[in-house]
Amino acid sequence: MKKLAIITFASALLMVQCTPKTFNQPSLKDAFANKFLIGVALNTQQINGNDSIAIPLTLKHFNSIVAENCMKAENTQPKQGVFTFDDGDKFVNFGIENNLNVIGHCLIWHSQAPRWFFTDSLGNDVSRDTLIERMRTHIDTVVKHFKGRVHGWDVVNEALTDEGGWRESKFYKIIGPEYVELAFKFAYQADSTVELYYNEFNNEKPAKREATVNLVKNLQAKGIRIDGIGVQGHYTMDFPEFADLDASIKAFAALGVQVMITELDLPVIPWPSETVTADISFSVEAQEKYNPYANGIPDSMQQIIDQRWLSIFEVLNNNADAVSRVTLWGLHDNQTWRNNWPIKGRKDYPVLFDRQYQPKPVVSKIIEIGLKP
Ligand code: XIL
Repeated sequence: MKKLAIITFASALLMVQCTPKTFNQPSLKDAFANKFLIGVALNTQQINGNDSIAIPLTLKHFNSIVAENCMKAENTQPKQGVFTFDDGDKFVNFGIENNLNVIGHCLIWHSQAPRWFFTDSLGNDVSRDTLIERMRTHIDTVVKHFKGRVHGWDVVNEALTDEGGWRESKFYKIIGPEYVELAFKFAYQADSTVELYYNEFNNEKPAKREATVNLVKNLQAKGIRIDGIGVQGHYTMDFPEFADLDASIKAFAALGVQVMITELDLPVIPWPSETVTADISFSVEAQEKYNPYANGIPDSMQQIIDQRWLSIFEVLNNNADAVSRVTLWGLHDNQTWRNNWPIKGRKDYPVLFDRQYQPKPVVSKIIEIGLKP
């Protein structure tokens, strides 16, 4: 009852906050309705009702959701054999109750996997057979738990390096490259009706694009089900080249699978390294020069940012035949991982709604792109 009152209050507040102009505007999901789904990642605060304006805002603009963290292995199986689905269930049920396309993220990933997954009681690496069994149990239990409620799973996340080799993760080192096909097989065995995706960052880069194509071709040649490729879309003001994004979408679509932009965000504060990555183990000390917009963004910079958003959506819109979903990695600027990664305590502006839950001016222009025939 209390939660309902909060949500009703939040909806009212959202209506008051939105000027009539923005509130009557078509939503992002409506603008792209005949083209692709528009998704958003939700965090546990939002799922648990502690960011209540987030809920009506999500329902207005988005028709797909993914959990930012609560369905990753460290949360679903923090200890061996102890599965915790409370937050995952709340998230998934919210999606089902509101007719949203619910995406599971993610089953097999070297990050945010609990340490026990790879080690024995003495702290040594487990054997190949043991790790395969642990993978099977994890995938089987999690996929079956959410069966019928999740539309698709990011089965394997980030198996490749930017140079196109295999990432030297524990999964790779202990099992070998077959861990990818095993993960897809186990997921299919657990639920033959759910869609299965391979998700990756920087796969706009030619070497990683080619490696992704080969990875998927290998699965297809072996008759292993794969339904889509996720292009994470963690961008910067310089990365990627739009021609590379376009080329990757086309190369992936040519494999006969769906292409999804799964974690789109555009941080506007400086990237503190020569190499752009979404590898969450990367971190840098805080320095003032890396936090230039703590008091707001100058107009001249805002124009450059807006142009970049529009160019990204132009590429996606031009490839609407191939792209099935575009998911933003965060709802509003106040709650985005970019404020704390790879440097803690910065003020970034990487998504489409501001700290007051208002659509940024560029949103109406993105909507115009979507409404083009
Ligand atoms: C990030 C979350 O946004 C953070 O809250 C968390 O601390 C680290 O992970 N690639 C992925 C996502 O596939 O799961 C990551 O999400 C960002 C990079």
